[in-house]
Amino acid sequence: MKRKYGLLGIITALLISVFVGYSFKANTVAAKTKALKPIIIQGPMPIEAEKFASKLKNVKVEKSGSFVFYKGTLDHYPVVVTKTGKGMENTAAATAVAIEKYKPVAIINQGTSGGHDSNLNVFDIVLGKRTTNIGSLKTGSKDENQGMDPTVWKPMDLMASEGSAGEDPNAEKPRYYEGNKNLLAVANAVKSKYTAGKVVEGTIGSADVWNNEVDRIKWFHTNYGTSVEEMEGAAAAQIAQAYNVPFLGIRVLSNNKTNGGKYNPNSAEACQEYVFEVVKKYIATEPTK
Ligand code: 5AD
Repeated sequence: MKRKYGLLGIITALLISVFVGYSFKANTVAAKTKALKPIIIQGPMPIEAEKFASKLKNVKVEKSGSFVFYKGTLDHYPVVVTKTGKGMENTAAATAVAIEKYKPVAIINQGTSGGHDSNLNVFDIVLGKRTTNIGSLKTGSKDENQGMDPTVWKPMDLMASEGSAGEDPNAEKPRYYEGNKNLLAVANAVKSKYTAGKVVEGTIGSADVWNNEVDRIKWFHTNYGTSVEEMEGAAAAQIAQAYNVPFLGIRVLSNNKTNGGKYNPNSAEACQEYVFEVVKKYIATEPTK
């Protein structure tokens, strides 16, 4: 009888310690996840953000203004997917709010884009070695009835000085925001996981404009070196730089006017699948941040 209780006692003690150990581990993982700085993944339209958000665990939806933040985890690491809405203004504001709210370790702005390089096809992906604002321009000087000539417009760098950009000759060049080297290296390291097209480094141009004139697209390609255009990346890059947060733009071609590539919205999901691989790799290689 005594021995029987003794055995029961040992088994109970073992079970309790396994349970306590397990819940302690679970609590520690949760505490560690909470202490880590999140990665922010931005997508402008529902088709560019919701797929990624659906892959997160423990998701809590938070809102600020019109911006939606899907706060969750991936491999126990905190990730905040942001549906920013389209365009430069939405993106700049959503980036600043997210930085203040979540203190991210890195920001990836991703989604669809239009090709400026005829060697790139719909479903190819451009990693933004550089991102630049292609809507910031200074026109030539003409008097009334002298017309308009966009071919002589000059790039205008709003960050060149604190003086008037329109009067500053040093501002007559594009401003490039460099993609973070570490994020670029991680993105390059998982290239082979993407089978829907090729993955190349390039220059992402952004403005609240959809260019459909091939000569104008070529003008940007020549004067800014753009690989693709979209409407958000440079706004996010500018704000990320203002707060010193590592940034990378990743854009899939959903259309390419220069080689007849027709718009395909399914490219948005393919891009998120690839960015998911990038984030997983980043988490695996940077676990302590
Ligand atoms: N020009 C501009 N924006 C484009 N987008 C996709 N293709 C293009 C293009 N050729 C993206 C923008 C914006 C939405 C209209 O689609 O980033 O979010």
